[in-house]
Amino acid sequence: MNRIPGPRSVLGWRLNMFHFFRSPFVFQRWLYETYGSLSALGQGDKPSTVFAFGPEMNHQILTNPDFFDVSSAFVKIPKDTVMGELFYHNLVLMSGEKHRQHRRLMQPAFQRDQIVQYGHDMAMITERLADEWRGRSEIDLNTEMKKLTQRIAVKTLFGVQDEEGMDQMGTLISRMTRSLLLVTLAPVNIPFTPYHRASRIAEQLHARIRSMIHEKRREQGATDVLAALVRAHDEDGTTLTDEELIGHTFSLYVAGHETTANALTWALFLLIQHPDIHSSVMDELNAVLGGSPPVLEQLSKLSLLDSVVKESLRLLPPASIGTRITAAPCELGGYALPEHTNVFFSQLITHRLPELYKEPGRFKPQRWETIKPSAFEYLPFSAGLHMCIGWHFAMQELKIVLAVLLQRYRLSVVRNARISPNLMMRPVHGMPLRIGQLDGRFERESVRGTINQLIEF
Ligand code: HEM
Repeated sequence: MNRIPGPRSVLGWRLNMFHFFRSPFVFQRWLYETYGSLSALGQGDKPSTVFAFGPEMNHQILTNPDFFDVSSAFVKIPKDTVMGELFYHNLVLMSGEKHRQHRRLMQPAFQRDQIVQYGHDMAMITERLADEWRGRSEIDLNTEMKKLTQRIAVKTLFGVQDEEGMDQMGTLISRMTRSLLLVTLAPVNIPFTPYHRASRIAEQLHARIRSMIHEKRREQGATDVLAALVRAHDEDGTTLTDEELIGHTFSLYVAGHETTANALTWALFLLIQHPDIHSSVMDELNAVLGGSPPVLEQLSKLSLLDSVVKESLRLLPPASIGTRITAAPCELGGYALPEHTNVFFSQLITHRLPELYKEPGRFKPQRWETIKPSAFEYLPFSAGLHMCIGWHFAMQELKIVLAVLLQRYRLSVVRNARISPNLMMRPVHGMPLRIGQLDGRFERESVRGTINQLIEF
């Protein structure tokens, strides 16, 4: 079979990976435009990394788990340690029968009727954050959205009631996740190393979550996700062990809160930078909600808001790229791939194919009135067996938070702010916004940064 096309470099695939991490969007676009739907980095007989673009590739990769297995390519935590226990009892890294069984056990906690119970908390916690903004004229939206989604996650996952408790638990988990990269680079457990610090935090988290599990077993009536997972059982009576419960709740928090914070940041940014659409969304909110926070039956009446969320997840998907590793020699797009090849598939490139989306770089929520892309053409939450288990949860949270905040303040981007998303769609220089009274005015501000390469205003 032929060799997969791709860039040559005397320094090999590492230099190309460096380009990828430095400018992920420009690099992927260049790869796609130069080499087409499949390209390899490293031109030996055994490519170590391939990039696959477009719905057909997404379909092949995401529907053949025996060949394209989940991968923890970027984070390597030693197993059989307290950190390993926290990290590896995790749907994202499970495969085969074990994944199917755990997903089955966890699914009820994420069904629509369970999720709707969290709507009230989502609205209330957002109202309280908006109260905290009183008297301020400028905020960093991304920091605020992280604070908010962290509080919502801690409340809905663990049932922690008080704001201080929510922030403490959130801080503990964030300190742990922030250290994962350093732990991967230097897994040495001696005092004062990041590894040692992360292990201490992991022990504290274990102890806190374990005592919560015992509480949920006693309480019975609790409605949070952990309580639902504690109650979950298979037909044969199998339940999740304490270690599995601890790992799953930790990973739910990690998988859910930063992605949602970034999605909120871009949805608000795109909306306020498009004054006509912003104004129409305000009309819709006024007509349906009249200034109150939404109750759940009203969410389905906010069709323009729904399109705004979908469109912003299309243009700036928080999971902009996905990864798998080949579990056996196989074929992709007519080329042979050896075992252990890293395979990247790109939500970002797929969502911007002109044959799927007219004027792909423009923010046009109204397109959702007429298009119905397939699961492999529009995949902000991925597709196949590992599709995001929290997608209902996230969609509900996004709409509630947007409805509450838009009705409380007039938001506008600080003029000439530098706005540049990274691979995970975190705006690396922040997202400074002015906040003021609602006054019926809607204005776009000019901004600097790489966002201008990604959106046609
Ligand atoms: C806008 C917000 C979110 C986005 C864009 C997002 C995106 C994704 C994506 C792309 C995947 C699949 C990864 C893959 O195929 O390798 C995924 C999986 C997952 N997500 Fe989300 N997610 C979001 C919110 C949430 C929330 C709120 C939760 C939980 C409360 C959550 C929990 C999970 C879990 C547990 C998985 C693993 C599923 C499995 O492997 O079976 N996510 N998410």
